Amino acid sequence: MPLPADWLLCHSVVTFLLLHSLVLMTFCFHHAATSCSKYCYCSESADGGQTVRCSNLRLAEVPPDLPNDTRHLYLDFNHLTSVPTDAFLGLPLLSELDLSHNELAQLEPGAFRGLAASLEFLDLSSNQLMTLSPQAFEGLHARANLTHNPWHCDCNLQTAMPLLDLEPTSLTGVVCQTSEPQDAGVQGLPFLLAGDVDLCVVLKKTTDVAMLVTMFGWFTMVISYLVYYVRHNQEDARRHLEYLKSLPSKQGRSEQSSTLSTVV
Ligand SMILES: *[C@@H]1O[C@H](CO)[C@@H](O)[C@H](O)[C@H]1NC(C)=O
Ligand SMILES: *[C@@H]1O[C@H](CO)[C@@H](O)[C@H](O)[C@H]1NC(C)=O
Repeated sequence: MPLPADWLLCHSVVTFLLLHSLVLMTFCFHHAATSCSKYCYCSESADGGQTVRCSNLRLAEVPPDLPNDTRHLYLDFNHLTSVPTDAFLGLPLLSELDLSHNELAQLEPGAFRGLAASLEFLDLSSNQLMTLSPQAFEGLHARANLTHNPWHCDCNLQTAMPLLDLEPTSLTGVVCQTSEPQDAGVQGLPFLLAGDVDLCVVLKKTTDVAMLVTMFGWFTMVISYLVYYVRHNQEDARRHLEYLKSLPSKQGRSEQSSTLSTVV
């Protein structure tokens, strides 16, 4: 009886196809439900939205496919060297961002754009940051961990500090490792606590000195030109005088010629 065998084959193929599509469908629905970045691990956050863990994945860039309802984002212990402009723009709920233990040396202008209203905690500790640019933080009010970075304290940093809107205690994490000038006495100190040191005054002094030197240079040039001019003219005057001394005889001759012409 060949029929049952055929029927069995047909039946098993159909069953296989059904099972296959079922598996595919569940996979798709599951993916839609979590919609997590392909590199990271996502879980529902207790305060709504998602907690996205991308720690210790050797990432060199911020993943581009983070879910838009990310509330807590952990990117610590990766190889990020810079935070580009608008890196977190599509994450309106983001309240905690951990970028610690990376190699961040640069925060582009607008790096945290779009987070001003939501971000409460920003961890930038244990990176390679040397200076802060207010353009990178654009009105961010978050509490930030800025410790364990090789901060270079100079007039630039001093000018930037008052322009930051970060929670004020955050700035105590800026501990100077190097400084300009080197002997300012701020090395090893939190920059905020070295209150009476003005790193820009020193700069003003050096520009004053430069100005003085330039003015002195001009002055010397003017004086030497004057001296040259007077000497040159003295010589001219002497020659003129000699000419004048030799003049009477010439004048006599010309008078003679004029009388001659009148006679003619
Ligand atoms: C995320 O995107 C979806 C689909 O585009 C949208 O419906 C939802 O409101 C967004 N969620 C947030 C928090 O923006
Ligand atoms: C800041 O970061 C450092 C190093 O990553 C850590 O030891 C410290 O506890 C953090 N401070 C706060 C207030 O979170």
